Amino acid sequence: MESIGCQCIEESYKELEPFIAQYAGQQAALITVLHKIQETLGFVPYDLQVKVADTLEVPLSEVYGVITFYAFFSLKPKGKYNVSVCKGTACYVRGAPKILTALEKELGIKPGDTTDDGNFSLEVVYCLGACGLSPVMTVNKDVHARLKQERIPKILARYS
Ligand code: FES
Repeated sequence: MESIGCQCIEESYKELEPFIAQYAGQQAALITVLHKIQETLGFVPYDLQVKVADTLEVPLSEVYGVITFYAFFSLKPKGKYNVSVCKGTACYVRGAPKILTALEKELGIKPGDTTDDGNFSLEVVYCLGACGLSPVMTVNKDVHARLKQERIPKILARYS
């Protein structure tokens, strides 16, 4: 059985099902329900997207649209190493878009996605509170500052 931390998916589903059910027919609760699923599982699996759509009476395309619009939600479990690249103003003006491009190229994924081997996931955040060190990214709890795109392969290699 797949596990997430110390809690197995089956237990999480048992907790989530009554939570989702209490919002039957309440389309306005979509974000609230998706937040709970994301917090509990670390992602929003397809079968729960379908359940949310049916229960809240929202088109599945809308559920999918919300998940892919907000960076907070993800469609896949996070990787062993979660790479968060900052695109806040200070980082942006100092080259964050190039850093993101280098990460996408090196990892072969887009923000919100996870590599097939489950090693890395990539997300965009807006200000990590270290603007003086911009551009910045974190890999789990490690902070990598004053980034240059040429350094990205070497940094990622430390985590492979
Ligand atoms: S804008 Fe990137 S750390 Fe503040």
